[in-house]
Amino acid sequence: MYSKHFNDSIAHPEAFWMEQAKQIDWHTPPQIALTTDEEGLQRWFPDGILNTCHLAIDYHVENGRADQLALIYDSPVTNTIVKYTYAQLQQEVMQLAGGLESLGLAKGDTVIIYMPMIPQAAMAMLACARLGVIHSVVFGGFAPHELTIRIDDAKPKAIITATSGIEINKIVPYKPMVDKAIAGAKYPPQHVVVFDRKLGAERTVQPIDIDFETLKNTAKPAGCVPVKATDSLYILYTSGTTGKPKGIIRDNGGHAVALKYSLSAVYGLAPGEVFWAASDVGWVVGHSYIVYGPLLHGATTVLFEGKPIKTPDASTFWRVIQEHKVNVMFTAPTAIRAIKNEDPEGAFIKQHDLSSLRYQFLAGERCDAATLRWLEAQLQRPVIDHWWQTESGWPMLANSMGIEPVPVKEGSATFPVAGYNLHILREDGTPSDFEEPGYVAIKLPLPPGCLPTLWGDNERFRRGYLQKFPGYYFSGDGGYRDSEGYVYITGRVDDIINVAGHRLSTAEMEEVVAAHSAIAECAVVGISDELKGQIPAAFVVLKTGYSGSVGTVVTEVVQAVREHIGPVAALKTVIPLARLPKTRSGKILRKTLRAIVDGDPYTIPSTIDDPSVLDEIATLLGKK
Ligand code: COA
Ligand code: AMP
Repeated sequence: MYSKHFNDSIAHPEAFWMEQAKQIDWHTPPQIALTTDEEGLQRWFPDGILNTCHLAIDYHVENGRADQLALIYDSPVTNTIVKYTYAQLQQEVMQLAGGLESLGLAKGDTVIIYMPMIPQAAMAMLACARLGVIHSVVFGGFAPHELTIRIDDAKPKAIITATSGIEINKIVPYKPMVDKAIAGAKYPPQHVVVFDRKLGAERTVQPIDIDFETLKNTAKPAGCVPVKATDSLYILYTSGTTGKPKGIIRDNGGHAVALKYSLSAVYGLAPGEVFWAASDVGWVVGHSYIVYGPLLHGATTVLFEGKPIKTPDASTFWRVIQEHKVNVMFTAPTAIRAIKNEDPEGAFIKQHDLSSLRYQFLAGERCDAATLRWLEAQLQRPVIDHWWQTESGWPMLANSMGIEPVPVKEGSATFPVAGYNLHILREDGTPSDFEEPGYVAIKLPLPPGCLPTLWGDNERFRRGYLQKFPGYYFSGDGGYRDSEGYVYITGRVDDIINVAGHRLSTAEMEEVVAAHSAIAECAVVGISDELKGQIPAAFVVLKTGYSGSVGTVVTEVVQAVREHIGPVAALKTVIPLARLPKTRSGKILRKTLRAIVDGDPYTIPSTIDDPSVLDEIATLLGKK
C-alpha cells in the first residue's frame, strides 16, 4: 500500500530506509541510518561502505545476470545498434577503470566527462565510480565557456571526451570545444582522454591527449574500490539563480538505496525488464535512469542517441519500444508535443507493436493536459506525470505504480513519494489551505539520494535551500494541493526557466546579454512556447546615443548567448524596449513582463515606479 510506505517513511524515516538499504549488496552494511555531520549536514548511512559500480555491474555478473543485456545503444543518427551484456559491460568498465588508474586517478579525485550519447559515456561514469573517482558530466549542448566554469569549480585531473556528437545530421566537433575550454581554465586537467568516433570531425591534438581505446585496451583491469556511503559519487552542475551554476553532489550510499527503491516502487519495474529514459547523460535523468538506476536494479537500459522527431521521423520512439521490448519509458512532455505536431493522428503509433510497454512516465517540465490526454488516448496505458529535480535525483511526486497505482488527475504529479514530507507553505511559513498556491517545501530530513550539500559551498546550500523556511528544504517551485492530496506544480518561483525540459538560468543569460557594448540594461524571462514549454526572451534597452543598427545588436546578442552558454540556451527572441518596468527601488518586474508577453492577466504592482511603461510595452508587443 502506498499509504503504508509513505506513512512509515515519514513517521520512522530511519527504520524505513534501513529496511530499504537491505536491498543492496553493501561491502559493510550500515548500522547507523542518519546522522548530522560536523558541518550540520544530514548524511545517510554514515558507517556504510560500498561501491556503486559493483552494485551496478559486478554484483549482477556474480548473481546470474552475466549474459543478460545490461545496455542497448540505439543510435538512429549513425544507424547503429550495439548491445552489451552485464559481462561485456563489466569487461569494458574494468579495463577503462584500469586505464584511468594508470593515469594516476584515485579515490576522491575528480573527472569531467563531456560526451555525446554513446555507451562510452556510461562506461566512463561507471569506471570512475569503480575507482571512487568523482565524475562530473557536462551536457554536450553547453559551450566551452560553461565547460571552463565547471573545470575551475571541479578541478578535474582528467577530462573524458569524444571527437564529436551528432545533432540530427550535423556533426558537432567536441574536441576543439574541450581545448578551448581548457585554454580558458585556471585549473587545467593533466589528461584529456578522447574517444575517436571516426565520423570525420575536426580533431585537434594536444600533448595531454590520450586515446580512449588505447588506454582501455592496454590497461590492467581494475577492481571496485570500497568507498564510504557518504563519499561523493558525482557532481552535476545545474542552473541556479545567479550566473554561477551549482554543483549538486550525490553520495554513493543514499543514491543506490533510493534509486533501487524508486525503480520498483515508483516505476514498477522488475529486475530483468527493459527501461528506457529518452534523455541525455548530461542531465540528472540520464544519471539516475539511463545509467545508474536500471543497472542497480539488474534491468536493461536503452541509451538512445537521437531525437523524438527527424531521426528519421516521429516514429522513432515507437520503433525503439517495439524493437527492444521496452517495459517502462520516461521522456519529457516536449518530446511528446514534438511527436504530436508531426503525427497528430498517431499513425506511427498504430504501426508499431507496443505490447511490452506498461507505463509512460513524463517529467522535466510541467505537463499540459492536452499532451497528457493525447498520449493516453494513443497508447491506451497509464501516462504518469511525475516531479523531481537535479537536487533530489529521484522522484519527489509521483504515482507509485509499483506499490499502488491511483487514478491520474490531469495537471497533477500525484502524491509525495515515500520519504518526501512535502508541504505547501505560505510566504510566512504557515501551511496553505487546499487549492491555495504556495511554495513547495520538504520537511527535513530529505530522504536518501537527495543532495547533502553543494560542491565546495555549504553556505550556498544553506542559503539557497534551507534558509527560506527553517526546518524545510525549499524546492524553488510553486504549487498547491487539492482536497484529495494530489499535488499540482505550477512552476518555478525564481529565475530558472525550463526550455524543452532543459533547466536554464535567466540570470546567466542576462550576464551575457548585458555585456554587449550597445546595451544599457536587460531582462531575460521565460515566455510560453507551444513546443518547448518555455523559451527565453531578452528585453533590452540600448545605450543612449547608440546609433548603430538594432538588427545587428539582436544578431550579436543571439550569437553571444550561443557562444557563451551554448545552443541549448536557444535564446532567439530579443526585444528592444525604450525602458524596462521597475519598482521604485529599481528592481526589474520580470513576472509582470512575462505576463504581458504571454497575454496573461496581471495586477499592476503597487511598488511600480511608473505604470505607464506597462501600456507602452503591451502596445509594442501588440498585446493591447
Ligand atoms: N550537443 C550539441 N548541441 C546540442 C545538444 C548536444 N547534446 N543538444 C541540443 N543541442 C543543440 C541543438 O542542435 C539545437 O541547436 P540549433 O539551435 O543549432 O538547432 C539547440 O541545441 C537546441 O536544441 P533542442 O533543445 O534539442 O531543440 P530542437 O529544436 O533541436 O529540438 C525537441 C526540439 C523538442 C525535439 C528537443 O528539444 C527534444 O528532444 N526535447 C526533449 C528534451 C529532453 O529529453 N530533455 C531531458 C530532460 S528529461
Ligand atoms: P531539473 O533539475 O533540470 O530536473 O529541473 C527541475 C525543475 O523542472 C523542477 O524544479 C520543476 O520546475 C521542473 N519540473 C520537473 N518535472 C516537472 C513536472 N512533472 N511538472 C512540473 N515541473 C516539473
